[in-house]
Amino acid sequence: MRNTTWKEAVVIVTGASSGIGRATALRLARQGSFLVLAARRQAELEALAQEIRALGTDALALPTDVTDQSQVQALVQAALQRWGRIDGLVSNAGQYVRTPIREMSIASLERSMAVNFYAGVYAVQAVLPTMLAQRKGAIVLVNSGDARTPIPPDTPYVAAKCALSGFGDILRQELRGSGVEVTMIYPGRIDTPMIENLRVPRISAKISPEDVARAIQSGVEHRNAEVTIPAQTSLLYYIKVVSPRLSDWLIHKLGISGEDLPVRQS
Ligand SMILES: NC(=O)c1ccc[n+]([C@@H]2O[C@H](COP(=O)([O-])OP(=O)(O)OC[C@H]3O[C@@H](n4cnc5c(N)ncnc54)[C@H](OP(=O)(O)O)[C@@H]3O)[C@@H](O)[C@H]2O)c1
Repeated sequence: MRNTTWKEAVVIVTGASSGIGRATALRLARQGSFLVLAARRQAELEALAQEIRALGTDALALPTDVTDQSQVQALVQAALQRWGRIDGLVSNAGQYVRTPIREMSIASLERSMAVNFYAGVYAVQAVLPTMLAQRKGAIVLVNSGDARTPIPPDTPYVAAKCALSGFGDILRQELRGSGVEVTMIYPGRIDTPMIENLRVPRISAKISPEDVARAIQSGVEHRNAEVTIPAQTSLLYYIKVVSPRLSDWLIHKLGISGEDLPVRQS
């Protein structure tokens, strides 16, 4: 949306209790947006809502498990009851589910699909009737660079994010001319709790969630279909298009999978 007016725009952010979602909510609040904050942890959401109100705008903290379709419907209804419209959806909640295929349980695959794929579908379907009636809206789907260059042993995570890619690509085409824009975000490695126990090589060094929040804002303002952040994340993808085996070799040689660190006991 060129000429995006963030001031008093009603924006739902899922996964707002941490990382990219939290940074995005704060960034949009600084532009004057009204935020609808969703995640499971109520205390974190309430604290963020207070921080947002202190910036001079408003926020609604709504504990929601996004894998439950009825809770997602209730979230959208609560936003509509409060403000009567929905200008933006940042579908961002996600979990990193990582296990080699030989050891992978179907349950872990289903858990990943629930949060990394179906939750996005539920959120889009819940906001779409309102946005279409308004003939205006911005849908942001937070995906992962992993969906473009799958890296072992991330199968449950990657399978769900690849499904989200397909869904988003078709959604964008079906909504052409409707006034509702779709932007898919492909982050590389981001310094959030999600991968705090993953040591990564310098070539895929972690960047800040604030950088992703900035990219989300800019992507919506410029009506970008896709945003890759950092930009060099695309490099392996282009190599894979030309030569999948060269891409496999580089992933292996450069240690892109990273190393799982022991989980710190608190
Ligand atoms: N970090 C990275 O390197 C990276 C790279 C590429 C893409 N991404 C994507 O970026 C998005 C945000 O991740 P992040 O890095 O910011 O991770 P994060 O700090 O761990 O945040 C994940 C968020 O998702 C929420 N969430 C998880 N399961 C949920 C559920 N069932 N219902 C509602 N909320 C749920 C969490 O809140 P609660 O626990 O309070 O529910 C939390 O707010 C994800 O979609 C992730 O796949 C991350």
